[in-house]
Amino acid sequence: MCNSVSIRFAVLDDVKGIVDVYCSSIDRWVKRVNGREVEVRYEDLSVAERWAHGGPWMSVETCAIHLNYLLTWNQYPLVALIDNRVVGELELYIGYEEGLLGTHSFIDVLEVHRDFRRRGIGRRLVEKAIEISRERECETIAVWPDPEAVDFYKKCGISDIAFRVKHVKLDLSSAKGLDPESIRIEKFPESYDSLRSCTFIAPRIETSFVAWIKSRWDYAVEKGSIEYFEASLPELGVALILESLWLNRGEANLYLWVKYVDSLPQAVEVAIGIAKRRGFNALRLLISEDVYRRYIAKYRHEVLNDYLVLFRRLR
Ligand SMILES: CC(C)(COP(=O)(O)OP(=O)(O)OC[C@H]1O[C@@H](n2cnc3c(N)ncnc32)[C@H](O)[C@@H]1OP(=O)(O)O)[C@@H](O)C(=O)NCCC(=O)NCCS
Repeated sequence: MCNSVSIRFAVLDDVKGIVDVYCSSIDRWVKRVNGREVEVRYEDLSVAERWAHGGPWMSVETCAIHLNYLLTWNQYPLVALIDNRVVGELELYIGYEEGLLGTHSFIDVLEVHRDFRRRGIGRRLVEKAIEISRERECETIAVWPDPEAVDFYKKCGISDIAFRVKHVKLDLSSAKGLDPESIRIEKFPESYDSLRSCTFIAPRIETSFVAWIKSRWDYAVEKGSIEYFEASLPELGVALILESLWLNRGEANLYLWVKYVDSLPQAVEVAIGIAKRRGFNALRLLISEDVYRRYIAKYRHEVLNDYLVLFRRLR
């Protein structure tokens, strides 16, 4: 246990320290030159190339935007400090989703600086997250741990399984593109109110609220690097997002909410049709095992991975 650690909410002045924490996990900085990957110094990478190593935490430019979003949208970034130096960060979201989690908190990321691990800092951050969640009257706290961190969370008391998740890649090569005239396509919901009562299907490694709130945040650096499409389909009671992979614009991740679970088979068909029409050749889904077995396994696919989402009941 490390006694000199203090935990507090992050402020914008912490950005440089937070970036140092996340960058400490990166062994090699690389960029593509003439189709080949070459190792370079951090300083030689553009902001987008830094992002490609792990998201907004890789550069002060993008981390400042990210932290601004968390703070202005009333979420809960926490930092751990030793002698005023940031040595760890945890980002907690508090929201609601229908079903098992109810009013919940979600630990989206947690990182302790490589030189300060195994000194109790991660545990202190999780304990603070649980304390805040209780104060905010959350029924549950949940996390999608990196497979190597599952035992860490179990030691911190977040040990029940909320969802067993399958990461699946659907092959769209023989799928049919959707005729845009065949269904009414409207704007994706700007407010969470219309998604509150929906069942969240994918990506099941996040919660409905967290997937929605992060989809509202815009990072300029993503603009040139990914393909993005979002819509709601009122006749089916469906909201969806297709977001291409960073380095592979032929494949898209699917975000999916359905109002009526009965419409799920049709929702999947329509998502496949839209993805195909937009030129994607594969669709990636992170779905519960149950949804996989019932609705997805029949399509031509490959299982990429299995994950656990852990949770703990707080009241
Ligand atoms: C996972 C991580 C946050 C843990 O932080 P930490 O400060 O090193 O952890 P702590 O020292 O507070 O450990 C608390 C307990 O968990 C154990 N533990 C820590 N990391 C562990 C791991 N990877 N696997 C199993 N147990 C682990 C510790 O031994 C300790 O057990 P004890 O109470 O019996 O002594 C840190 O290793 C990290 O930043 N890893 C890289 C990023 C990551 O995986 N983040 C989590 C993804 S959501």
